Formats: sequence, structure tokens, C-alpha cells
Amino acid sequence: MSKHDYEHDYADFTSSPCYEPGDEVPSNTSKNPTFYEVVEARASRRTFVAGGLAAAITSMFGVGVSTRGALASSTAPSALLGFTPVPVSEDDAIHVPEGYDTHILARWGDPISGDMPAFHGTNTGEEQGHQVGQHHDGQHFFAIDGSSEDGIYALNHEYIEPRFLHAEAYKGMALSTDEVVVEADGTRIDDHVLKEMNAHGVAIFRTTKQEDGSWAIVADPRNRRVTGLTHMEIGGPARGHAKLVTKYSPDGTATRGTLNNCAHGVTPWNTYLTCEENWAGYFTNHDQADGRPNLPREHARYGVRAGRMSRYGWELAAGGADQYARFDASSKGASAAEDYRNEPNTFGWVVEIDPFDPAKAPVKRTHLGRFAHEGVVFHPAVAGKPVVCYSGDDARFEYVYKFVSRDVYEPGVSDGSMLDEGTLYVAKFNEDGTGEWLALAPGRNGLTAEAGFADMGDILINTRLAADMAGATKMDRPEWGAVDPATGEVYFTLTNNTRRTEAQVDAANPRAQNQFGQIIRWRENRDDPAATTFTWDLFVIAGDVNTSRTFTGHALNEDNIFACPDGLWFDADSRLWIQTDIGESAQNRGDMTPMGNNAMLAADPRTAEIRRFLTGPIGQEVTGVITTPDQRTMFVGIQHPGATTTPEDHAAGNLVSHWPDGGNAVPRSALVVVTRRDGGIIGA
Ligand code: FEO
Ligand code: CA
Ligand code: CA
Ligand code: CA
Repeated sequence: MSKHDYEHDYADFTSSPCYEPGDEVPSNTSKNPTFYEVVEARASRRTFVAGGLAAAITSMFGVGVSTRGALASSTAPSALLGFTPVPVSEDDAIHVPEGYDTHILARWGDPISGDMPAFHGTNTGEEQGHQVGQHHDGQHFFAIDGSSEDGIYALNHEYIEPRFLHAEAYKGMALSTDEVVVEADGTRIDDHVLKEMNAHGVAIFRTTKQEDGSWAIVADPRNRRVTGLTHMEIGGPARGHAKLVTKYSPDGTATRGTLNNCAHGVTPWNTYLTCEENWAGYFTNHDQADGRPNLPREHARYGVRAGRMSRYGWELAAGGADQYARFDASSKGASAAEDYRNEPNTFGWVVEIDPFDPAKAPVKRTHLGRFAHEGVVFHPAVAGKPVVCYSGDDARFEYVYKFVSRDVYEPGVSDGSMLDEGTLYVAKFNEDGTGEWLALAPGRNGLTAEAGFADMGDILINTRLAADMAGATKMDRPEWGAVDPATGEVYFTLTNNTRRTEAQVDAANPRAQNQFGQIIRWRENRDDPAATTFTWDLFVIAGDVNTSRTFTGHALNEDNIFACPDGLWFDADSRLWIQTDIGESAQNRGDMTPMGNNAMLAADPRTAEIRRFLTGPIGQEVTGVITTPDQRTMFVGIQHPGATTTPEDHAAGNLVSHWPDGGNAVPRSALVVVTRRDGGIIGA
């Protein structure tokens, strides 16, 4: 990748090849410095000039991470990883290690509910509402009675690829991966909008192991789709807030739908959390003052579109139905109760769903903050102690957050209301390897009414601005987190940030124009998850053989080079599973060429040994992973195969991927089921 490919070289960052569809507009204009930039930037600038990136990294490790004291470490060879690594791949196929098998489950369009409508290229919007959605992401296997052969599966659908969703209607058109067709009269076809909204959200379905060893979707009264239209309650301190008042909910206690459901979480009381990530672009606001866009801070700090069509133009639906018109958040009525000026404020939350009770409305848990939530990950809950979880805000220069409940965990008694009272914190990573959790609450860290934060609800609706005020560390796009069950150490992927300049580097985000990403980890003070201080280091700085380093000081090699870590999960044995998301525009090009297609690797957190376990088909990212309780079956999410098809190739019918159905089929996101021929534990 030449330097001209970096986004900051483009006046409009969306025209950079690094731009991914749906990426949030960088909206952190706070003067908040990135921490300790002076010391670190000076060091790195010198070494960048003297010896390039590798020397700069060596220098940083020399004075930084290794002497800070790595967290978990061991010199013994890994006993955790027992498979032979797979090579990088550019194939339109799944590859796993020798001795492993895969098969496909839950493709976009597979029926789960209603009269089980079969998948075809002209499915209606209503039919899509009874099928698996598009663009699989966070997911969990909820075992039924502890079974490893029977469970309720919860699966996020992050976004859509309109040209594949409407494959028949859009055939032969030169369309990019994110593009919808607006009719000549400026409207969108109602049923297309319905189908798009029903392809978002969450699919919940029963899946069981069949006699031949394969897994299948099974009809069950608990199967349901949660979509962009489902009625949802609002919980926590922002419930009933004046800024959540809409025509749909004049008392500010409810909304419709969840969107851009990225990663997920599983609560200690066994419910599913789905996280709203790049939701802001789904809304537009045409309000103006003095001839210029005039967006409230609740919109502007998140990147709600000003004066142009929303991401998919749902507000343009021809029939003008309320459920679609609400995506225009302009002030149209006499008050907030008569329009949808506050509709975007009902998005950006973590949503709790009970996978076992379809009658229960999902609840947006506002005390976990409002931002581009990637996922949420809990410390293992301990009876008599508060519940603690973490969530990253995946946008350039945004933050990592932690929530500590007010009440203590009572097994069998605690429920989602635990997430409605507590303290939300944001992370500050100091240069010396220590860190602090800064409380976001009235009167704390400058969050006063005089400073513009009227109450707790206001702080939560404006979480990013509150974190700016508190002085949090601007990170390289925090994605998934994972907690090591053996040590309680917390790992987070920082996927990349090509807009970070040399003047903005800090110890936790040590590279300018960071195209490869890193994985950071921390240990709470006294191993108390509720502590307000911690120590941290970098587990691995990703990249090729010349630009990477693990905390043990070793470079990655052909068995494990990777870039853009995103999905992250610890299995019960403390194997760390790492999934990659190199953007569509960068895959198999320039500096990313050696990485091949996006992949999944497994790591030993104590030795930093890492091995590539799975490579995916063309154009996709690997995202979402879970095993059955016995660890003998693994489910892996494959999202957006074929997304690297150019508009011209789409017009000509030359799709770069036909995975998983083969032939000339339209590519479909799907789950890959991984088993071992000897029936052993996956990865061991
Ligand atoms: Fe949806 Fe940040 O990945
Ligand atoms: Ca992700
Ligand atoms: Ca992605
Ligand atoms: Ca990503």
C-alpha cells in the first residue's frame, strides 16, 4: 500500500481504498491529546527516520512493553495448541488443519420460522423476516440443558450487501458492495426496504447434531428473528429521558429495532447481548441554521448524516410508512413527540435478548453507554461481587469502556436489571504500563451541569463527549474483548487506524498509519475486576515478518502472520482465538498481499505462540466463534464473501466468490461447523 492509499491523504475519507462500507465518519474532534504523545512520538519519529518501522517497534519494545513486565508469560512450549498451522490462502474455500472437517450451517436466507420459506433470489421482505439474516457476526451457542448436541443459537447480522440481497432485481447493474438503487422518482421500493431491515438484527434458532454428525436448523417455538423493526424497551438511566422522546414513544421508553449488530455478549444470567455498532449512518438529518447543517451533539458526535441520503435510503421508501420515514431525523413537527428528531438517540446501545423466551421484548441497556459498540465481554461472575463487563467503541480514536454493577451477583436471582445501576468508566492507558478507569457520572471527571451534562441520562446519550471530557485515551479502533478464564486478564483487539499520525502515537497505539493493528491486554489491580486502576501491555503487534512483534519479542512468521485483528474469544482452556478483518479495499493488495484472505488463528496467552487455524473464502472476514460446552464442535462465522467484487464485475455477472453454494451462486454469509475426525477438543 503506498502512502497515498492512507485515508488522511483524501479530503473525503470515503474515497480512500482503506475505507470500508459503513465505517463511521471520524467524529472525535475533541482536543483531548492522545496520551504521552510527546515522549513516545519523539522516540518513534527518531527511529522511523533512522531505521524504519521494524526499528521503531524494536525500540518501543525495548523501552516499553518488555520492561513494563508482560502479564501472563511462560518460557515453556505451548501445550495448548496441538494442530499443524494452515498456510495463507487466496482460495474461494475454507481451509482447516489436517484431521479437521467442516460443513455449512445457517446460510443467509435459510428458513428458521413461520412457514419456513425456502431461500431464493426473489424472497420478499416478509419471507426474509423468517430467514437467517445477512452478514453474520457475533454469536453464541446456548446449550439446552447443558447439551453439546442441542442448543439455541443466537446470531448477529451486522449489515447487508444490497446487490446480493436483491440479486434478481439488481442483476447486471454496476453496483458497489454497499449501494442501493433509488428509483427515478427519488423513492425506494417499499418491499426492498422491508427486506433490508429484516436482513438486519439477530436470528435465534434451535440447532441440533444430526445422526450423520452434521448440524441443522430445527423448527422450534423459540425460533425468531429480531430485526430493524422489532419493538424494544429502553432500560437504565436514559429510559424516559427527554432526548429519547419520539412519535413512536412519547414518554421515551421504547423504540423499534436494532441495527448494525456487530459483536455480542453473554450475561452471567445466560441472556444474549447484541451490540449496535455503525448505526449512525442509517439516519439522515436535514436541519439547517444559516444555510448550514445544524445537528445536535447527540447526532454530530456520532456521524449521523447531514443533508444527504442515509446509508440505504430507508427514509425514501415510496409508501412513506412511519417505520421507514423515521430514518429522517430532521425536526419536522412542533415537538419531539411529533417527529423522529430523537430517533438516532434510541440507537447506539447494547440490547439484551432472552434467547429462550420469544415473548420477552428486547431491552436496550443504556448504562453500558451509547457509541459504536463492537461487543461486550464479562468477567466470570462471582456470587456476592459486582458484575463487570467491557465494551469497545470501534471508530478511529475512540475509547474502551468498563461497566461495574452497583448490586452484587446472586446466581439464580440476578437478571438484566443488574445492568441498569452501576458505574460506566472509560480507559486511560498511561505510558508506563499503568492505567486508570475514569468514571462517567454526574460530578465526576468534570461531568457537571455547567459543563453541559445535565444528568446521568444525558451523560449516557452523549457517552463519547463525556469520555472526551474525562480525558480517555484515543485508541486504534477497539473491536472485540476477551477475558482469560485462567487469569482474569482482559484482551482487546485494536484493529487498525491508518489516520493516526506520528504526532499522535502513544504507548498503547504505537504506530502511525497503523494498517495492521495490535492486541492490548490488562490486569485489574489486585485482580479485582471492579478496581479503578490496572496494568497493561501489548500482547502482539500484528503485521508481516518485518513489522510484527509478540510480547516475547519475536516476529510473526509464515505460520501466523496476520493483520487487522477483530474477533477475539477465549475458550475454556484459555486458548485465545483471533479473527481477522482486513478491509475489502486492502485485501490481497499492497502490504496486505502476504496475509492472504481473512483468517482465524489460535494463540497461547502465556507463550505468545500463535498458529493459523482457518482461512476463509474470497472477499470475506472471519467473525464470530463459539464451541459447544464439550469443545468438540466449533461454529465460526463467515461474513460478506464476494464483497471484493467490483461494480463492473457485478454488472458482467463475474462474482469473485460463489461460496458456500458453488457454481454460479450468489455468495452467502454462513456458519462453518468445525469438528475433529478423532472427536477431540478443537485446537488441542
Ligand atoms: Fe463490526 Fe468493528 O466490526
Ligand atoms: Ca468486527
Ligand atoms: Ca467488517
Ligand atoms: Ca472490523
